[in-house]
Amino acid sequence: MAALSQLLLTVFLAAALLPLAMAATTTTYPIGSFCWEPGMNYGDLNGSDAVVRRRSINFVVSDLVAKARTGGGFATSKAGRGYDAFYGLAQCRGDVSGGDCDACLAQAAKQMVSYCNYTSDSRLWYEYCFMRYDNYNFLGEVDTREDASVTMRQWPDMDNPKAFQKAAGKAMGKATAQAVAVGSSGLGRAKEQYTPFVSVYALAQCTRDLSPPSCAQCLSAAVSKFDKACGSGPGCQIDYSSCWARYEIYPFYFPLAAAGRATIDMTKYTKVTVH
Ligand SMILES: *[C@@H]1O[C@H](CO)[C@@H](O)[C@H](O)[C@H]1NC(C)=O
Ligand SMILES: *[C@@H]1O[C@H](CO)[C@@H](O)[C@H](O)[C@H]1NC(C)=O
Repeated sequence: MAALSQLLLTVFLAAALLPLAMAATTTTYPIGSFCWEPGMNYGDLNGSDAVVRRRSINFVVSDLVAKARTGGGFATSKAGRGYDAFYGLAQCRGDVSGGDCDACLAQAAKQMVSYCNYTSDSRLWYEYCFMRYDNYNFLGEVDTREDASVTMRQWPDMDNPKAFQKAAGKAMGKATAQAVAVGSSGLGRAKEQYTPFVSVYALAQCTRDLSPPSCAQCLSAAVSKFDKACGSGPGCQIDYSSCWARYEIYPFYFPLAAAGRATIDMTKYTKVTVH
């Protein structure tokens, strides 16, 4: 009973703090970034290489925002030729609205350059969207690089870790099966009862350039890391560049269940590194 009231208190506090945190965390800051090779600021260079690079990258990121607006939250783009070509991909979480998607990608386009200084391979993860560009054609490739990924878990561990991990695993399995099914656009959402009072909500998604088998490969890499990375934390997510998987004990994905909330409480999240 103590655990339940503690849980309810946590949920209550989180809900009370939410409206402020929500606007800030969903669109303002990325939850993760990857810039390769860092240290060089192409934004400050005036050589013709740097100028061409900036022009191509600026084109790709703004093209991604525009195309995703009409492309249902997904877009690819290309600029330049040969060794100077840059390829881009943008994708929103499949359940967010067009307006939220657009706002998230517009922010990503703006922050891509301030975070990465026009590095060759740049990626930003937000709660609602993901944007990447690179200097080779990565489209259709499964990417589960650990150094270019985001892993975040919530604390404290649930009281009954084995039973909870089983429920979370079941929810994740259902969401994954949905995501890899033909015609799902790579998105899966599922709910699994843990106790009479607590359910686990799971979301799994691949970028839309992946085929169903590639999607399955990516999500299985993510899901296989959950035990080690998430323990029995009440929420956890693993975000790669071509798929992401997450569960929570509250309805975080749209459409929201009654009295739901659709955001991360960033104050309770801890980034973890798993190798
Ligand atoms: C961006 O440029 C600044 C200043 O030149 C530098 O300190 C920083 O390390 C660069 N960041 C990356 C990701 O290259
Ligand atoms: C590039 O040009 C700008 C504006 O002309 C100048 O302020 C800046 O110092 C130049 N950068 C380098 C590295 O020469």
